[in-house]
Amino acid sequence: KRPAGAPDKSLARKISKVGIVGAGLMATQFATLFVRRLKVPVIMTDIDQDRVDRGVAGVHAELDKLAAKGRLDADNHNRLKALVTGTTDRSQFADCDWAIEAVFEEVKVKQDVFTDLEKIVSEDAILATNTSSLSVDEIASVLQRPERFVGFHFFNPVAVMPLIEVVNATKTDEETLATAMAVAKNLKKSAVITRDRPGFVVNRVLAKILGEAMHAVDTGTPIDVVDTALEPLGLPMTPFELLELVGLKVGAHVLESHHAPFPERFFESKNLDQLADAGAKLIERDGKGQKKGYTKEFKKIVGTEANT
Ligand code: 3HC
Repeated sequence: KRPAGAPDKSLARKISKVGIVGAGLMATQFATLFVRRLKVPVIMTDIDQDRVDRGVAGVHAELDKLAAKGRLDADNHNRLKALVTGTTDRSQFADCDWAIEAVFEEVKVKQDVFTDLEKIVSEDAILATNTSSLSVDEIASVLQRPERFVGFHFFNPVAVMPLIEVVNATKTDEETLATAMAVAKNLKKSAVITRDRPGFVVNRVLAKILGEAMHAVDTGTPIDVVDTALEPLGLPMTPFELLELVGLKVGAHVLESHHAPFPERFFESKNLDQLADAGAKLIERDGKGQKKGYTKEFKKIVGTEANT
């Protein structure tokens, strides 16, 4: 295993084509960033053509917004849009030297994606996972070339959040790590190298904040009281706004993936699980998306879990 610390920058590989598996909201956001910053072909794939089309259209719409804000000139705007394509045929990833996924947070699903990708891309290609709460080592355990595998964890909203966590799994080699750090730099993000531990660094802290906030509500503290009490901390969003931003399912998964290994340190919230499963919202918004208050469903849960 290479020594700890920053990898040798000179080992970073050049990326000339990016493959993205999963064309949902998160993937659309980082596909936009990859094409905008690396200016190389970006190919997206998903399980059906509809999802692929929506993903590509989503990237085009993001690029349109950047152009409308004057952040892309007309030449670049058209050139970048043409660089983004979609396919349901993963064999078109053969010449990608960097492929990253943002598919469902389930180990087996991700393992299947990467097992398949390894057969398609060249031996030197680097495979990256955007997982937020699964073990990168566990995903890598089925791979032929785990040394070419790394965690590359973006934050929501991708365009605005400055950080990427580069997860240095047990078998990740130095060239892969150096390339991931170089990619982050070229995306104009800051990056930290983290170990493969539940929540890496950021979600470990967030799981604490979000879990405690949910637990307070679950055990009888009114939602507004939690918000008002936390104001002096100067968080850019309340814990409940943040849960809604990342998606209740993702948020519930983050809590659960910390509670399972460390039940004494982290709370899970059955109420949050149920709200997530029901596709509920926490925040009531007006037609312009401005927050009006909290939804009835969310308010109903106050004090409904045993006070532990
Ligand atoms: N998507 C895309 N862009 C967004 C956005 C969104 N949801 N929300 C805001 N933005 C953009 C705006 O367009 C604006 O861009 P511009 O300067 O180019 O016009 C810029 O962000 C600032 O927006 P606003 O002035 O409207 O809003 P705020 O000053 O209130 O900031 C925020 C918005 C940056 C989202 C801020 O509230 C914030 O930092 N929130 C915390 C977000 C956070 O903690 N994210 C991490 C979540 S954890 C995670 O993702 C990991 C996962 O594994 C769970």
